[in-house]
Amino acid sequence: MGVTAVIGIQWGDEGKGKIVDVLCDRADLVVRCQGGSNAGHTVVVDNRTFVLHLVPSGILRDGTVCLIGNGVAVDLELLTAELEELKRSGIATSGRLIVSRRAHLVLPHHKRIDQAQEAMRGGGKIGTTMRGIGPCYTDKYGRFGIRLGDLVDPSVLKARIQAAARAHAGGRDDKPVFDAAEAEAYCRTYLPLAREISGDVAAILMDALGEGKEIVLEGAQGFLLDIDHGTYPYVTSSNTGVHGLITGSGLPPSSIDSVVGVLKAYVTRVGEGPLPTEMEEPYQTLVREKGREFGATTGRPRRCGWLDLVALEYACSLNGVTSLVVTKLDTLAGLDALKMCVAYEHDGMPVPSFPTETDVLAGCTCRYVGCDTWAGPSLPGEKGTLPRSARAYLERIEAAAGAPIMMVSVGPERGDTIQLQD
Ligand code: GDP
Ligand code: IMO
Ligand code: MG
Repeated sequence: MGVTAVIGIQWGDEGKGKIVDVLCDRADLVVRCQGGSNAGHTVVVDNRTFVLHLVPSGILRDGTVCLIGNGVAVDLELLTAELEELKRSGIATSGRLIVSRRAHLVLPHHKRIDQAQEAMRGGGKIGTTMRGIGPCYTDKYGRFGIRLGDLVDPSVLKARIQAAARAHAGGRDDKPVFDAAEAEAYCRTYLPLAREISGDVAAILMDALGEGKEIVLEGAQGFLLDIDHGTYPYVTSSNTGVHGLITGSGLPPSSIDSVVGVLKAYVTRVGEGPLPTEMEEPYQTLVREKGREFGATTGRPRRCGWLDLVALEYACSLNGVTSLVVTKLDTLAGLDALKMCVAYEHDGMPVPSFPTETDVLAGCTCRYVGCDTWAGPSLPGEKGTLPRSARAYLERIEAAAGAPIMMVSVGPERGDTIQLQD
């Protein structure tokens, strides 16, 4: 297995948390590399549901060391709450989580800015999770962010806070959104936690690599929300593909042995932005209800769409996906009609590839092929017992993606998985 990168290849919520948990059965280390508490990764074990926002999904496997890399926007307040919740559920966390000293912190002003910016965008809002992610990365790339490692040295912290205060003041004479006293008090509150959990994650990973350990990189969000390659500006503020897992962990690109692309058997999107295959009624409601398509972080209803092979092909090629995991095949069981999008058209002309311009994407119409349905309400969980029409559906996915399906998920539980390949 070596180093396995697990990424979402749609608009997020593909079921990455469940799949990372399954793959961590064999992993020594699991690493979150980008994004922050905007992620909501669900793992269901023996009817108990765990929703993880910052802690890697491998925390539910006793032997797996959990790392949060330099690329993650870390909210220490939420991390504290998440660790306490896990402890209450009987999950051992002590000494099992190490957060990169280079990781940037989400501070209270980031959430205020997130809210203010969304209000300012009005009808053009992005529909963010309000977790302060974009503003945190803005500070990072503006070079006035505050990193976990800054907390442990009071003089360094003071200098970083002063730099942030100056940058945020920006010559304005109204009350600055960055409140230096608030930031200092916040950082002081979380100093004990910082001392306990911070470490040099890249160095730990390099040692693990040298020792031949099994490492799983847990992507967050989905490739179509990527800041560079997604449907800009309706995206998140990090690189959500394999590229982000490299910069956000510190591992060299050549260390990645396999890139597992996780996709739903259909697509969903939460927040604004184009979704070319958005389902018509009654399918929209049927799939949302059956698939329980409500955000794990915000509770918002997810918009559901038919499987989009144009977007799938795009995501697989840019990420060099080597194998696929298809989740929620069971959700489609029992529908009276099924189709997938095989091409886009714009102004009556074929569109050769996934458009770079989001306005063009929004104006695309989809060409569909009909697919044979399979009976519901559920699917058998054993290899070889999938209905023929479901297998044909999967074969079409493999052909478009140019990669084999290693696993199919047919329910939320850890065990509701069909292994097709090692
Ligand atoms: P992530 O963000 O990619 O980890 O995905 P989420 O956890 O946000 O959303 C996936 C949802 O689908 C969660 O509620 C999972 O418990 C659930 N889920 C995952 N795989 C399956 C599956 O194969 N079938 C069904 N019915 N639910 C699934
Ligand atoms: P997981 O890891 C689905 C979406 C938000 C919004 C846009 C920008 O659970 O798949 P942000 O708060 O990041 O600035 O919001 O990105 N978004 C997600 N959608 N799953 C996620 O994570 C998401 N994280 C962010 O809804 O449209
Ligand atoms: Mg999610």
